[in-house]
Amino acid sequence: MKKLYGVIGDPIAHSMSPAMHNDLFEFYGMDAEMFPFHIKGPLLEDAVKGFRAINVAGFNITVPHKTAIMPFLDEIDPLAEAIGAVNTVVNKEGKLIGYNTDGTGYFEGIKQAVSDVEGKTVLLVGAGGAAKAIYYTMAYAGVERIDIANRTQQSAESLIEHCPYKTQSEVMVITETKQDCSEYDIIIQTTSVGMHPRVNETPLHLRNVKEGAFVSDIIYTPLETRFLRQAREQGAITQNGIPMFVYQGALAFEKWMGIFPDADRMEAVVLRQLGGEKC
Ligand code: ATR
Repeated sequence: MKKLYGVIGDPIAHSMSPAMHNDLFEFYGMDAEMFPFHIKGPLLEDAVKGFRAINVAGFNITVPHKTAIMPFLDEIDPLAEAIGAVNTVVNKEGKLIGYNTDGTGYFEGIKQAVSDVEGKTVLLVGAGGAAKAIYYTMAYAGVERIDIANRTQQSAESLIEHCPYKTQSEVMVITETKQDCSEYDIIIQTTSVGMHPRVNETPLHLRNVKEGAFVSDIIYTPLETRFLRQAREQGAITQNGIPMFVYQGALAFEKWMGIFPDADRMEAVVLRQLGGEKC
């Protein structure tokens, strides 16, 4: 019988996950299909019960349900528990197990451009849910220094304080003045500032970016944000949010199907959906 997969969120129509996973199912000759489900918050628990009843094999969770879904699952992976958010659920013989592949997906994505993160100094811009997933995953992986630049000092401090994995961190409050970035090897923009349609906005004005530093933005609409353009113009190696999106999906696929899929193929599907080219 065909295996059913889902992606749930509110809104959900824009999700590229069904196209990406359905292409893989077809490519690998798997009798499986993913559907998008538009689920409103108050019906989330019922939706999970429904998934159990029809034996959905796995699903992705997107905004705004990544935290709210946790009480309705049977088991949560320790990293997802620490992050406080689940984006992937595996149905293992009737037991729903929650994982977070956002941070690990990000990390896998930067490995395509940065050979080794050991000893590197990282600056994270933002302290929301995406920043938390990336910070906790990098701390878990042993990255020694991750500073945070955020508009609100307290949210950055709280993110660091609750991290169960030890790393060194300083907090910087973003001001109107340009941020001196000369000591950072890796800079990661994690806020939604600069996303379509507000493409002229940037959370931070970069100054003194190290020649050859790696700068990424988790946004992929537009493919190059104002933040990323500024970094490129200062000689940085840049990466947009597509690798993170692709690899969070690849890691979810691996959990569901037991094989790590062809990420280049996934990227091509995503780019086709976005109507753009590699950045
Ligand atoms: P999430 O990452 O949870 O999806 P988000 O709203 O996309 O949430 O991003 C939240 C992050 O973006 C926070 O770091 C937030 O800063 P505060 O902690 O000060 O709220 C940051 N952020 C949102 N709007 C911003 C803006 N206009 N300028 C600078 N930072 C902003």
